[in-house]
Amino acid sequence: MRKKRLSPLYPLIVALVLTRAASGQQTKTEFISLDAAQPILQSFSNALPEDLPKAPDNAAWSAWVQGQDTKIRQRLELGEEDTLTNLLRFGVTYTSEYQIDREYLAKYGQSSLVNSFAENRANDLIRALASPTASEGMLEMRAFVIKRGYSFKTPQDRARLKQHLLDNLAHMRDEFAQFREKLKTADESEQAQLYAQRGISLDSNLWPDYALDLALSELAKAGMLKPGSVRRIAIVGPGLDFANKEYGNDFYPPQSIQPTAVLDSLIRLGLTDPNTFELSTFDISPSVNIHLARAQKNAIAGKHYVVQLPWNSAVPFNPEYLAAFTAYWQDLGKRVGTPVEPVAVPLKLAQDIHIRAVSVRPEIASRITPVDMNIVYQRMDAADPDQKFDLIIGTNIFIYYGAFEQSMARANLAAMLKPGGFVLSNDLLADKAPSRLELAHGTTIKVRSEPQIIEHMYCYRLQP
Ligand SMILES: C[S@@+](CC[C@H](N)C(=O)[O-])C[C@H]1O[C@@H](n2cnc3c(N)ncnc32)[C@H](O)[C@@H]1O
Repeated sequence: MRKKRLSPLYPLIVALVLTRAASGQQTKTEFISLDAAQPILQSFSNALPEDLPKAPDNAAWSAWVQGQDTKIRQRLELGEEDTLTNLLRFGVTYTSEYQIDREYLAKYGQSSLVNSFAENRANDLIRALASPTASEGMLEMRAFVIKRGYSFKTPQDRARLKQHLLDNLAHMRDEFAQFREKLKTADESEQAQLYAQRGISLDSNLWPDYALDLALSELAKAGMLKPGSVRRIAIVGPGLDFANKEYGNDFYPPQSIQPTAVLDSLIRLGLTDPNTFELSTFDISPSVNIHLARAQKNAIAGKHYVVQLPWNSAVPFNPEYLAAFTAYWQDLGKRVGTPVEPVAVPLKLAQDIHIRAVSVRPEIASRITPVDMNIVYQRMDAADPDQKFDLIIGTNIFIYYGAFEQSMARANLAAMLKPGGFVLSNDLLADKAPSRLELAHGTTIKVRSEPQIIEHMYCYRLQP
């Protein structure tokens, strides 16, 4: 492999990153206090969670909040089951069987054809999970099923796992049918809480990053974000891209795209200086946090972080959207790294999947610091105003929570922002409780006409 030349400032950057990590300054988090939660408890006095003690004192509040945090983190396991089901539906590395798209999924259990796709896929997936040459993603999924109490040793063990995979598939079919029903009558705020009872998934793709790019460029054009003004950035829930719910992408290793994509947009728009920014990610998922910690450690040791940038053109997008997205994608990553040869796309997908890859410079990747934080009930202990953020981003995350939890998250986001700082999210945040975060701008993107899909990016600003 060709050796990349490091910036002359690299030893200094490494020293800074290590000092920061050693001081622990970046990673101190705390639970929301009873005092800080009071305005939300008052606004929801008629609809408080049933298990919340009446008029709690500090000790009761602290115990309750920690219990809620544990419950939220437990939802990750169900989300991982969804990832496994998406791997079963769409994976391309372990089988040549037909993929189970939404239309086929709706027919699972009633169509012998779809049932046979599912059976064959389940058999092939179990073989791949047990294989001694399993890929990084498959190894993670293997560890997950073993943790859930399954094994590959005997034919009975494998039959039990197969039944579990097929039960999960039926569960996803029923869940999607419920979502379709709900969406027929749901208003904007009900849509914004659609997944409140669902397992929490890690999947990601490039569409929200493009929407963020548009929103940031609108804020820059309107003078709401000034050149060079975004130094401290946080991304809530950056996610881990492996076997997502739109198409099989198990042909490259798990990766976190959003930090790279957002930084590239900010630098291109002149909002962020690549030499002085600090980016923290806040996530509850150990898989995400460990992945990003490893990437940072490797970057400190001088290694590049390679991201694959795939997208699927089989979706019938508006021509204008498609042209603008393609231009964004072709340029993506050039400020933070160098284009490199992407992984080969399996023949079966070659017609629809477009892919580039970028090797992110260590100077950039070493400045991305993962923090274990539950944004609903935790925040950074930032008594120092310099530790507050100019910009916090969170896409496809608040939809997993109801209005009460979103209001807690809104208070935590506000507490971590500098005055005038922004939160950008494609989820509309509940506004029942008073908050210093006010909707300051909205970006609307027409993605598709028939059926109509419109994406939104909501830009909230912290009032002084
Ligand atoms: C569906 S992924 C979205 C990934 C990416 N933001 C995107 O839009 O493509 C949701 C991410 O949010 C994280 N997450 C969910 N609830 C969270 C919470 N309460 N606090 C922090 N992270 C959370 C998950 O672990 C996961 O990484």
